[in-house]
Amino acid sequence: MAERIDGQAMAATVSGRVARDVANLHKMRGIVPGLAVVLVGEDPASQVYVNGKIAQTRAAGIRSIEHRLPADTPECHVLALIETLNHDPQVHGILVQLPLPAHMNAAKVLDLIDPAKDVDGFHPVNVGRLSTGTGGLVPCTPLGCMLLLESVIGEFRGLSAVVIGKSNIVGKPVAMLLLERECTVTITHIHTQGLPDIVRGADIVVAAAGSPGLVRGDWVKPGAVVIDVGINRIVAPDGKRRLTGDVAFAEMDHARAITPVPGGVGPMTIACLLSNTVQAAWAAAGP
Ligand code: GUN
Repeated sequence: MAERIDGQAMAATVSGRVARDVANLHKMRGIVPGLAVVLVGEDPASQVYVNGKIAQTRAAGIRSIEHRLPADTPECHVLALIETLNHDPQVHGILVQLPLPAHMNAAKVLDLIDPAKDVDGFHPVNVGRLSTGTGGLVPCTPLGCMLLLESVIGEFRGLSAVVIGKSNIVGKPVAMLLLERECTVTITHIHTQGLPDIVRGADIVVAAAGSPGLVRGDWVKPGAVVIDVGINRIVAPDGKRRLTGDVAFAEMDHARAITPVPGGVGPMTIACLLSNTVQAAWAAAGP
């Protein structure tokens, strides 16, 4: 039976550490970290994510600054807001929830965020730092994946890792983090030919394709560690709506360890966002 990697418990550990860091920053430097969240439009999934982020931000003792803007907000208003937040000393982290409405150029908006406040790690400066292994703020979900992997893997050097998914939010950055740990990394996606055979060679499988149940039991070699980043809303055969991952969980008994959906990677994303915010606040406080 595969070990179930408990993301809820790991996220609680990270959040506890963040709360202690927040308290120390206040005690030693008189600073309360602040996280600004910008949500444009009424996308229901984004609203759920943002509400969760705000609730946990407050619970960790971080100041939450919210900007909810209508879907038809002109792009120039969002750019002006980012400029204001960049210059606000009470704001240490800025998060613009994606996707943005279609009339906006997301890259232009993200590029304007001060890299030192880019707690999502999406700014090209932070992407460059990650790919050159020179620090910076690291995207939250990939960071969470690595913490979960570290809970079951002692030595990464030389392991073979397959990442399924090539997004800027998960696939590419998690591949960089695995490479940094000296794994041999193959980045694949749903159009990769011979995907099952490639996955069969992997000691570590990170599934982030957004395709429910894509990874089947006979794709995964015995003893592999499987991280399921998929959060797919499906209607089950009984007619009920539920969340399911990119991995056929019931077929993974032969894996060494696997993250469930829900309760695996999901809770780690917000915990790592809070961790990045405190890191940014400490960096802003100076030595
Ligand atoms: N939309 C889906 N995932 C994310 C994320 O990690 N950060 C932001 N800003 N938007 C998202």
